[in-house]
Amino acid sequence: MYVLKGLFFISALALTSGAIAQDNVLNLYSSRHYQTDEALYAGFTKQTGIKINRIEASEDALIARIRSEGERSPADVLITVDAGRLWRAEQMGLFQAVKSAALESRIPASFREPGGHWFGFSMRARVIAYAKAKVKAGEVPTYESLAEPKWKGRICVRSSSNIYNLSLMGALIEQLGEAQAQSWASAVRANMAHEPKGGDTDQLKAVAAGECDVAISNHYYYARLARSSKPADRAVADKVGIVFPNQAGRGAHVNVSGAGVLKHAPNREAAVKFLEYLASDEAQRHFADGNNEWPVVPSVRVNNPVLAALGAFKYDPLNVAVLGRNQPAAQKLYDRVAWK
Ligand SMILES: [Fe+2]
Repeated sequence: MYVLKGLFFISALALTSGAIAQDNVLNLYSSRHYQTDEALYAGFTKQTGIKINRIEASEDALIARIRSEGERSPADVLITVDAGRLWRAEQMGLFQAVKSAALESRIPASFREPGGHWFGFSMRARVIAYAKAKVKAGEVPTYESLAEPKWKGRICVRSSSNIYNLSLMGALIEQLGEAQAQSWASAVRANMAHEPKGGDTDQLKAVAAGECDVAISNHYYYARLARSSKPADRAVADKVGIVFPNQAGRGAHVNVSGAGVLKHAPNREAAVKFLEYLASDEAQRHFADGNNEWPVVPSVRVNNPVLAALGAFKYDPLNVAVLGRNQPAAQKLYDRVAWK
């Protein structure tokens, strides 16, 4: 297994039109770059004899690349994060449908695209973070509670163009209806401590620094700080509490890291085998734990101290494909309330 940094090898593969299948090879385009993935891919090769050629780049760069390679693309599988992004790739016609009894029995229906174009392999939650010194967990039990006037000038959250916020809004539109979702966005906008800026980790740091009292973040950014070897990171995590929202109702909004088989995959059979491997017990543990996420296969447990401390929670079983489908409406809604 090796990572292809340049374009030359792949270009040579794709010189003639159409996809060229190779013996026992899988070309994987991945936006993941976790050390645990090495062991994961080695496990696949050991089990199947299929070697993995890996191209790593940012999510959007990979999608653009597959698109421009067209039917000559050597890519067999795309791995990326967030249902919104997987949906975008699907809308561009990049994936092909896969029918696999193994995938359907292992992965709960809400974590896969109903047509089999892509599958979630790990779960992340969009949580509410709060300043332990100033806020009690019970004060922010739901996403809806962030709209209360008491939070005026106290909320930190990143920009609306961010895919995590688009997917969150996709869920809110589905669950609350567009009018109520817009009232929520408008009220949260009015409650912000400052203009949206930075990534999720920045929101957590802002809470720890006292710039704001509550924030919205994916849970694994907190886990990363809590497990960091740097004392300054752990000090941030110490000051921040985490709430899984809406536990008395529909459950916390969750999303996935996922993958699909590409439309012009030269090695289709190997690609399907790889997705099935990702749903295996061993792969589920590595794949999820690499980014402090949870396996989507319910029987698989990870041994992760921070996740264990966060505890079990109820999640919203809304199908992840809905999060994608509602992305355009979500962006328009955010724009109408000038979330930025
Ligand atoms: Fe992320």
